[in-house]
Amino acid sequence: MITRVIDIRTNEKEALSEAARLIKDGEVVGIPTETVYGLAANALDGEAVRKIYIAKGRPSDNPLIVHISDMSELAPLVREIPEKVRLMAEKFWPGPLTMIMKKSDLIPDVTSGGLDTVAVRMPKSEYARKIIKACGLPLAAPSANLSGSPSPTNARYVFGDMDGRVPLIIDGGGCEIGVESTVITFAAEKPTLLRPGGVTVEQIEALIGEIDIASAVLNKLKDGETAASPGMKYKHYAPSADITIVKGSFEKFVDFVKDKDCFVLCFEGEEQNFENAVTYGRADDGLSEANRLFDALRELDERGAKTVYARCPEISGVGLAVYNRLIRSAGFKIKEV
Ligand code: TXA
Ligand code: MG
Repeated sequence: MITRVIDIRTNEKEALSEAARLIKDGEVVGIPTETVYGLAANALDGEAVRKIYIAKGRPSDNPLIVHISDMSELAPLVREIPEKVRLMAEKFWPGPLTMIMKKSDLIPDVTSGGLDTVAVRMPKSEYARKIIKACGLPLAAPSANLSGSPSPTNARYVFGDMDGRVPLIIDGGGCEIGVESTVITFAAEKPTLLRPGGVTVEQIEALIGEIDIASAVLNKLKDGETAASPGMKYKHYAPSADITIVKGSFEKFVDFVKDKDCFVLCFEGEEQNFENAVTYGRADDGLSEANRLFDALRELDERGAKTVYARCPEISGVGLAVYNRLIRSAGFKIKEV
């Protein structure tokens, strides 16, 4: 299969008409969103959605997020819209927030990974919303990486993973946020955070009160423990390099890596202290870290890093999302110094 790339920033008309034509025809198209790039297909067509799993090499019990462009598109997809979902949608949609509800019969089992729930998001990216509108369909879209690799934050990385696997990638430039959306379920008794992202726990609790945080957000699942979100049981965001998070002050970090043959994943302004360093944002700024993390992981691979020691982010606000992705890429290896 030949993979075409169309830049929607310079060629919007063709990008929209080609994406819509292919998606309506049951094909898979790489699309930009404000979080990460997605691999989109008609969420209501089981055969089309099956092609997403094949393109990604993704286990079929891992459900997909359904993307909509307008609030009116939600009701047909779910059994009911809980009051808290309405509040959250008013405040955070369009945006980096995915909400899980009981699904309606319109959603095929392949889209929901066999669960009786469905995850829905209204992206903020103008390009994503224009593509959904042009299709006139809800779009199932996981991140556009091969299963197990870091999520792609620009079209070049999508092409690297998906060349020959999908007919079209829409290039919309870099992603504003850089890590995947916050996922919260309203299908459980108490709203439960399954994946931290750009919409923070602090923001959500200020709006709807206390929420639960699934243990897999910060901890490795124990053998035999079932994940509230199937995606959390898989190895994720892993570059080829072997990463260890080093917790402690900057001085102790410098001391720890000195004389080691390694790469360092550090914050901006710290890199001059090391021979081989890649930076991921500013130490006190979770958004800037989120924005750089996946690019930094891919850059480590491109530079041939084998052993990497990483500075630990603040574990609050958007930093919780950064830490959640980083501990997974480190296979939960943490060293206290
Ligand atoms: O920002 C994002 O959310 C991106 C862009 C493309 O929108 N999409 C994305 O999709 O990250 P994906 O498939 O890589 O991650 C979706 C996560 C997975 O961990 C999956 O297990 C979980 O959401 N999920 C989806 N539907 C679910 C459901 N019904 N119940 C529990 N977890 C669900
Ligand atoms: Mg993913």
